[in-house]
Amino acid sequence: MEDIRKIISEAKEKIKNANVSSLENIKTEYLGKNGALTQILKSLSSYSIEDKKRIGSQANNAKSAIETEIESKKEDLKKSFLDEKMRSERLDYSKSFYFPFSKGSFHPIIQTIQDISGVFKSLGFAVGEGSEIETEKYNFEALNIPESHPARDTHDTFYLEGLKTLLRTHTSPGQIHAMEKNKPPIKVIVPGKVYRNEASDATHFSTFHQVEGLAVDENITFVDLKTMLADFIHKFFGSDIDIRFRPSHFQFTEPSVEVDMRCIFCKGKGCRLCKSSGWIEILGCGMVHPNVLKAVNYDSEKYTGYAFGLGVERITMFKYGIDDIRLFYENDLRFLKQF
Ligand code: PHE
Repeated sequence: MEDIRKIISEAKEKIKNANVSSLENIKTEYLGKNGALTQILKSLSSYSIEDKKRIGSQANNAKSAIETEIESKKEDLKKSFLDEKMRSERLDYSKSFYFPFSKGSFHPIIQTIQDISGVFKSLGFAVGEGSEIETEKYNFEALNIPESHPARDTHDTFYLEGLKTLLRTHTSPGQIHAMEKNKPPIKVIVPGKVYRNEASDATHFSTFHQVEGLAVDENITFVDLKTMLADFIHKFFGSDIDIRFRPSHFQFTEPSVEVDMRCIFCKGKGCRLCKSSGWIEILGCGMVHPNVLKAVNYDSEKYTGYAFGLGVERITMFKYGIDDIRLFYENDLRFLKQF
């Protein structure tokens, strides 16, 4: 009886520390043909009937106790094996994977629009939206370009649907929409795509982008326009950039000016990008013409405003030193991947 008790405690201890393969050995060691308990059962013939019964039943109890112990250890081992397998095979979504294709990015023009918008937002402008299909009213008439005015010829317009609608030739119709939808004070930019029916070369393309800007309120002056534009250019290109204002003409602004900045490549010495002039033209602007305010039923005695229009492709070309506008629209990944 003492032996049986010893066998049980010894077996339990071994089972507790067993692994999958040693568990099989333990089973043979105690319950196999030559196992310790089998030996005891075999030796029973030499005992009295009383002892046979007692020792026999103890030995059988021990056998089934060890069997149960082994089975439950087996279950434990199986469970921890599965847990470990799950852990090791789980997908780690935070790891980076190498796909057979590379990651996409924003088109350089879209990136520039986002950058420009970011700067204007920091200067207090809202960002509005216009429509690429317009009527003559919005693209021309309300902007003080009446029918048969020679200024229309410079716009190389794509007309649609029996001449009633057209593809906007500039984002300036966005000024009219903004004023029709809101009351002063207004301070908004309208970025978007514009179209001109002209032959393409290194600096011209039939589709390009502009960012229109408009501020209308009481007492807005030309000084407000100048300081705001200087702020924009210094924030966007760098605080050490020289700028100059040159008189110009637009039907919808009076006075009108064009803004140049010192060439960022040659610092004004003259190079291929600035066509040896040392200056780069980056936008057109001016004080909103009273006729434009009248076209949206604003009191042109009470309100004044300024407007400006930036060419996004030009700005992107100068920012990155790109010398051909057509590169933006060829969808050549070797070009696009650089941004
Ligand atoms: N719409 C003009 C152009 O396309 C730019 C401009 C906008 C000029 C607003 C003055 C004021 O050239």
